[in-house]
Amino acid sequence: REELAALLLGRIRDVADYPKPGIVFKDITPLLADPVAFGALTEALAAFATEQGATKVVGLEARGFILAAPVAVRAGLGFVPVRKAGKLPGATLSQSYDLEYGSAEMEIHAEDLTAQDRVLVIDDVLATGGTAEASLRLISRSGATVAGLGVLMELSFLGGASRVRAALDGAPYQALVTV
Ligand code: PRP
Ligand code: MG
Repeated sequence: REELAALLLGRIRDVADYPKPGIVFKDITPLLADPVAFGALTEALAAFATEQGATKVVGLEARGFILAAPVAVRAGLGFVPVRKAGKLPGATLSQSYDLEYGSAEMEIHAEDLTAQDRVLVIDDVLATGGTAEASLRLISRSGATVAGLGVLMELSFLGGASRVRAALDGAPYQALVTV
């Protein structure tokens, strides 16, 4: 577990002052380009899905898609996208949430989950937790059960883990790397 965290952390690049001065951007593209690291990440999250008895893997647009799709295939589960508002063509459930300035909205196709589903939600980074919290609410509102939340990296100083706690409703949360 510590070895995995070191491997993954070693492939995440800090980019200073992006997208704004004072922000340190966590760039995961070196990790994605390394098949050993990307493979180990996929294995770890697929094992989490299996342990929790997940029936579906949800990825959060956009970077969460890249991680969640191979996890779903590896675990033998279906993939369901949570998208930014206005991108899904069918009947959707939508959930808005507050940002530092303004608000954002995530959507899911209402018919993609059933009351029988147990859903593992995956994203790359947990920062303030707003994106993950809204997505977990969408899962619950669809009638499915939240099986867990898995992220590559948690920025613990932003308090996201406590923000998502209520929406997890007792389901486990796992961050493979915490900074
Ligand atoms: C980033 C990141 C997470 C989210 C974390 O996504 O990929 O999804 O922010 O922030 P939060 O915990 O404060 O909500 P972003 O919306 O920047 O876009 P992208 O994934 O489409 O690149
Ligand atoms: Mg994102």
